[in-house]
Amino acid sequence: KMVAKKNLCILILAAGKGTRMKSPLPKPLHPVCGLPIIAHILKAAQALNPAAIGLVVGHEAATMEETVKAGLPAWGVTAPLVFVEQTELTGSGSAVKAALPLLNRFEDVMVLNGDTPLLKTATLEQMYSSFEENASGAMVLGVSVPDPAGYGRIVREADGSFARIVEHADADEKTLLIHEINSGMYLFKSPLLAQALAELKPQGPKHEFYLTDTLSSIKAMQHPVLVFGSEDYQQALGVNSKAQLSQAELIMRRRVTDRLLEEGVTIPNPDAVFIDAEVQIGADSFICPGCYICGKTVIGKNCMLEGNVYIKDSVIADNVTLKMGTYVEESQVDENCQLGPYAHLRPKSVLKKGAKVGNFSEIKKSVIGEGSKVNHLSYIGDTDMGAGVNVGAGTITCNYDGKNKHQTVIGDHAFIGSNVNFVAPVTVEKYAKIGAGSTITKLVPEQSLAIARSRQVVLEKKGIQHD
Ligand code: UD1
Ligand code: CA
Repeated sequence: KMVAKKNLCILILAAGKGTRMKSPLPKPLHPVCGLPIIAHILKAAQALNPAAIGLVVGHEAATMEETVKAGLPAWGVTAPLVFVEQTELTGSGSAVKAALPLLNRFEDVMVLNGDTPLLKTATLEQMYSSFEENASGAMVLGVSVPDPAGYGRIVREADGSFARIVEHADADEKTLLIHEINSGMYLFKSPLLAQALAELKPQGPKHEFYLTDTLSSIKAMQHPVLVFGSEDYQQALGVNSKAQLSQAELIMRRRVTDRLLEEGVTIPNPDAVFIDAEVQIGADSFICPGCYICGKTVIGKNCMLEGNVYIKDSVIADNVTLKMGTYVEESQVDENCQLGPYAHLRPKSVLKKGAKVGNFSEIKKSVIGEGSKVNHLSYIGDTDMGAGVNVGAGTITCNYDGKNKHQTVIGDHAFIGSNVNFVAPVTVEKYAKIGAGSTITKLVPEQSLAIARSRQVVLEKKGIQHD
């Protein structure tokens, strides 16, 4: 790990109301490719190795703080994080003001809006280098976008240097034509920022304190204020509405499939798969349209995912085939297994090497041993199954007595006929056989044959009354 930049603090502004999202969920918690917007920003911020990260919360502050704290381990965010509360939601300038006691302890402050999930660490890294090289007082990441509506415009002097930022709501017709916008990512010399914040006056239709006004006032203090440019304008996309949320999602999905294609995964139609940001897939695995691969899923090499497979938070080893419609959640599937069509692995299921779970079979919190087969129409729950077991069609574990769940244990090489019920807790020892249609309620010893069904009665024609 790199040494922390001991002079740098990164402040993320996430106190705003996010009114345009029309949702009770705070804006920074809306997911993009399976991770909340704020998680993407925290991860990018941490990758810069700052000495500290500050997070300004306000609207739904308690929910924000709880959710972020709970999410940190899963997001891999371990950098020192300080929550700052903005009590009056009077603009981005006020948000930064609320954090001054934290910011005063550092020389350099990077400020990031809390609604730009596509930001790139590499760009911020380059911007910080340029900030240091140029001994700037402040710097803003500016990009030219096809549609600048809603963004603050970067107004330049006749000589091309930075003049000021004008918010969309305050812009005249001429300013509205500017396509160069403020991305909401900034760097400041901390003492200059503090001084500029003290001078802020409310602006615009909502009488807000604009952080953007600090840039022109630092310039007025005779310190260089620079615009750092980037060709990649998409990284500046701010999410203010559900339309922008879906734009961010599409762009990030493209980034994910581009990465996977680069790593040798075969994806015939990248626009037709839904793969979350952190998913890993090995080379030559084949991902058909309609697949959802979510959360922390890791898939090995040479796997085949037929259409409409859903996998969440699971580990799939090499050479696994997941046929059409298979659903896998919080489970582990070892090499050479085959699932589906329409198999369902519920949480905490483990399929050992070469196991098969076929059509309409449901597995829950169970181990299916090496090479064992549950091929047709079964429910296997709370079961520890050994290797080489064959489970006949329609076999069910009766694992729930209305109050508690009970275990079924099936030894290696047991042969289970079709339509067997296991009334748990119950054990079947290795090499035992069970006749079709049996309801098993007690131990079946090693190598024995158990039949637990009523005998067939045949009444001859003469014994039956026909009307
Ligand atoms: C802001 C910028 C605009 C820029 C755009 C980039 C200002 C005044 N304008 O506009 O120039 O082009 O971002 O996306 O900053 N926030 C708080 N407390 C508040 C208000 C806002 O923490 O009182 C936070 C929000 O949670 C958000 C960020 O500040 O993360 C920006 O606020 P938002 O309302 O989205 O500003 P924009 O209108 O998008
Ligand atoms: Ca915004």
